[in-house]
Amino acid sequence: MFRTEGSEPVKGSMLSLTIEAILDFAGERRGHFRLIESEVFSHDAYGTPRELFVAFFAVIADCLRDILGEHWSAEIDAAWHKLLRDIEAIVLQQKHLVDAKA
Ligand code: HEM
Repeated sequence: MFRTEGSEPVKGSMLSLTIEAILDFAGERRGHFRLIESEVFSHDAYGTPRELFVAFFAVIADCLRDILGEHWSAEIDAAWHKLLRDIEAIVLQQKHLVDAKA
């Protein structure tokens, strides 16, 4: 689903921007989190299914859990589950462009 040429820098940029959006969404909500809403539409155009778009955030959470190991507490786990549910709700609530035009 990623582009075949020049994919590595784009993946790196995407991951970095996604992490900034997550931190902002979980924290001050100064504006970076809006990237999540806006990228839903560009990814419709890239052909990225919305379920996969949402799964990207869960993969980040899984990686962090692996890195933290025994330091991954029940509190951290609950906070991530809430965050993932909230992000999923935002993504699924965005209407597809074709729906909006109809
Ligand atoms: C597995 C899920 C995802 C796939 C398959 C995917 C795929 C893509 C593709 C194909 C592009 C276009 C690259 C190009 O040709 O220039 C792109 C760009 C981008 N994606 Fe994703 N994406 C995913 C998840 C996300 C998420 C969750 C976010 C952030 C909320 C995100 C943010 C971006 C941004 C900001 C760009 C522009 C990158 C840049 O030019 O700096 N993506 N993505």
